[in-house]
Amino acid sequence: MAQKSGYDFVVVANRLAVDRITTEDGGTGWRRSPGGLVTALAPIMAQSDGAWVGWHGAADETLEPFDHAGMHLVPVPLSEQEVEDYYEGFSNATLWPLYHDVIARPEFHRHWFEAYRRVNRRFAEAAAAVAAEGATIWVQDYQLQLVPAMLRELRPDVRIGFFNHIPFPPPGLFSQLPWRHSVLRGLLGADLIGFQRESDARNFQRVVRHRLGYYIKSDQIYVPSEEPEPDQLSSLPGLHPDPARGTVARQAAAPQQGDYRIAEAKAFPISIDTQKIVELAERPDIIARSEQIRRELGNPETIFLGVDRLDYTKGIRHRMKAYEELLADGELTVGQACLVQVASPSREGVESYRLLREEIESTVGRINGEYDTLAHTAIRYLHHSYPVEEMVALYLAADVMLVTALRDGMNLVAKEYVAARKSGQGVLVLSEFTGAADQMRQALLINPHDVDELKTAMVKAATMEPENARRRMRSLRRQVVSHNVQRWAEEFLERLAELR
Ligand code: G6P
Repeated sequence: MAQKSGYDFVVVANRLAVDRITTEDGGTGWRRSPGGLVTALAPIMAQSDGAWVGWHGAADETLEPFDHAGMHLVPVPLSEQEVEDYYEGFSNATLWPLYHDVIARPEFHRHWFEAYRRVNRRFAEAAAAVAAEGATIWVQDYQLQLVPAMLRELRPDVRIGFFNHIPFPPPGLFSQLPWRHSVLRGLLGADLIGFQRESDARNFQRVVRHRLGYYIKSDQIYVPSEEPEPDQLSSLPGLHPDPARGTVARQAAAPQQGDYRIAEAKAFPISIDTQKIVELAERPDIIARSEQIRRELGNPETIFLGVDRLDYTKGIRHRMKAYEELLADGELTVGQACLVQVASPSREGVESYRLLREEIESTVGRINGEYDTLAHTAIRYLHHSYPVEEMVALYLAADVMLVTALRDGMNLVAKEYVAARKSGQGVLVLSEFTGAADQMRQALLINPHDVDELKTAMVKAATMEPENARRRMRSLRRQVVSHNVQRWAEEFLERLAELR
């Protein structure tokens, strides 16, 4: 463990890397979170004196830092009001919909942003307090976009990385944000800003050029050390501000002199802990469980599977509409086909999520009421989260995986399904609006807004020649096996180390 001078590697994320559990004797304990990010970073933490700063998930509770599973954990407290304003409000009712193509309407409230700024400062201070001299600090995701600049101010000696796990919107949408300059300047405090897709990195670069006028070359953004206020932009050499709109119409000339630093913005597509999924998919008890699932569903010829957080970005309604029409057309029949939809509970304090749940559940009720038989169901809907073992059994049981997100930073479910399908059978139907679509070109790529195209792809997937399916799956698996989440973390951190 670190000498008391601090930790060499600090991760800052909205969520802590552990979940609270109830132990057998009724007490409480902690368990390492199962997600890919934690899996990728835990070994690096153990090797390099790592600390993880994050919210432990409960309101109005202050916990002392503690060590668990080779990590030093620093819980950041949030009051009930802050959960409402910073987490449910600005993070998940302003930024989340704005960054996901405004599928839901983002709400802009000044007091939400004030809470976001206050809570971001708390995370930055907590990280600054545990980082050793010259440490590397890696800030994660849209909840903490102001943290990089705050950290730089508090600790100019540290190396700062930021990774955005969700899409970064095109400038026309991002520019709606009343606090757009604060967010850009917050992010530009990092030395390396990672995005899922090339198009996300380009969106960010374009908005930096357009709004701030900074010079950019080969993913490198020249950030002036003295930040000009927007109304002083005209004094910068090479800038041509448009005072009427408060924007910079043209990019600055390459800085010849003066004080600037480099922030690099580029794509690092995240992946999964492939080895873990492959190993689970080979376990006899999990294979047996997958066979049991098929039997319990009445041995349909085609099991379609959807696995999502219950979120309006995931296109669950579009998927159900296509499936319902296929049943109505007689192209699919209940008994022969079944749709298993796992919808894990998410952000239930946010109104748009509550409304979505009502809508999905009434749709499932209507479709099942219409098409179920005494022996078989049309849709087996499960509003639960499951351990990864059960998820892998479901992946093994499913003939067709439906990933129909309207917008998704990456979508790791698509990658997990492929990793589990060592036999080479199974077909992935994948929305082109996911980050995963950039790397998974052998999936059946679809536009989920096009219901006819989605229906055609579902039928094509259900009836695909096994040799064709195997060829596609083999190629998809090569990608996922060679690009796991460990490699993602290494590549990001290596680049960050080179930059300063
Ligand atoms: C997405 C975000 C994560 C977030 C997760 C679950 O994957 O990119 O930052 O942790 O959703 O959402 P929650 O609000 O429960 O943390």
